[in-house]
Amino acid sequence: MKNMLVTGGCGFIGTNFVRYLLKESDFKGRVINADKLTYAGNPENLTDIEENFPERYIFEKVDICDRENIARIFDEHEIDTICHFAAESHVDRSIVDPDAFIQTNIVGTFGLLELAKANQDRLELFHHISTDEVFGSLGKDGFFTEQTSYKPNSPYSASKAASDHLVRAYHKTYGLQVTISNCSNNYGPYQFPEKLLPLMILNGLEGKSLPVYGDGRNVRDWLFVRDHCTAIWEIMKRGKRGETYNIGGNHEMENIGLVEMICDILDGIQKPEAKESRRELIAFVKDRPGHDRRYAIDSTKLNRELGWVPKESLETGIRKTIQWYIDNREWVNRVRSGEYQSWIKEQYG
Ligand code: NAD
Ligand code: TYD
Repeated sequence: MKNMLVTGGCGFIGTNFVRYLLKESDFKGRVINADKLTYAGNPENLTDIEENFPERYIFEKVDICDRENIARIFDEHEIDTICHFAAESHVDRSIVDPDAFIQTNIVGTFGLLELAKANQDRLELFHHISTDEVFGSLGKDGFFTEQTSYKPNSPYSASKAASDHLVRAYHKTYGLQVTISNCSNNYGPYQFPEKLLPLMILNGLEGKSLPVYGDGRNVRDWLFVRDHCTAIWEIMKRGKRGETYNIGGNHEMENIGLVEMICDILDGIQKPEAKESRRELIAFVKDRPGHDRRYAIDSTKLNRELGWVPKESLETGIRKTIQWYIDNREWVNRVRSGEYQSWIKEQYG
């Protein structure tokens, strides 16, 4: 693996992965980060990487659906490995406006697979990042394994399911070297503040309402993003080609419990204004349509075959994440502001 195309490297998980790959892992090659810079992509996340690894990090502002430009990148940088993160990733947005989800997640992935197939002679691996949401919703008991059948419930998860099937089909039909990982809910630094954790942290810090959907008893399995990155890299290096691996944090939690935990940690760091506790800010709001009740991942296969286990406890992971958002208010203000989008236009056209 000498020249790795990372798609969506300016998003939340992609940023953490590029940082991990170049600063901490044993990867010795170059990263070519291809990102369209949607509202969720921020090239400033990697400014220090650009400065410190000028020979090993290249940024290309490009839409994965733009096949001509992606083909140029394949040739110019002699791509031999792909790690595919780029996607529209927020369930609520997919409910309101699913078009971009179909285009990027399905058509975009298809275009990348076609290019990978055309370059199969030098392509070592196409690793596809996916989600546990493709499996649908669990009842009180049980876990998603790699054998669980697909039953996606939102336009987002349906689009991810379609892309997973395409990746698998390109292995079976054309012998493309692929691996797929399906992970649970990530949290950590650089997550766009529309997802549950950063939204609650920032609203909590700002004394704003904390909107909890429905009865708040939906369960998610929380995975610290760095643990996710180590798992991806292990799978890329040593995972069986053509196979799928589940990645979970082993930290199931009801939404309401998680929000209360965030409130209590925040109260410990900074007393709330005009309130006894930030728990008073919690507001139960209208439920998300088709809201999956419970996700829980069984990562036994990844543990058995590659020896991977998540290292971060939920408490320490949440504390680190809260501290990151406190220390990076400039980042938050930038990604929230419309002004930032015009800066992107100026920089990258
Ligand atoms: P994100 O929304 O933070 O980032 C997505 C990135 O992709 C952004 O930088 C965006 O600019 C880029 N992008 C979007 N459309 C593009 C296009 N057409 N061409 C090029 N770039 C494009 O998402 P994330 O949370 O970092 O998720 C990354 C991947 O992990 C996604 O495939 C997602 O489905 C998957 N995933 C995420 C989670 C999670 O909890 N965040 C859980 C499971 C799986
Ligand atoms: P989210 O971060 O959107 O991830 P996903 O839907 O992919 O699991 O939401 C996590 C959980 O939190 C999910 O059950 C929906 C819930 N949620 C709220 O209760 N309030 C909110 O404001 C948001 C964004 C999510």
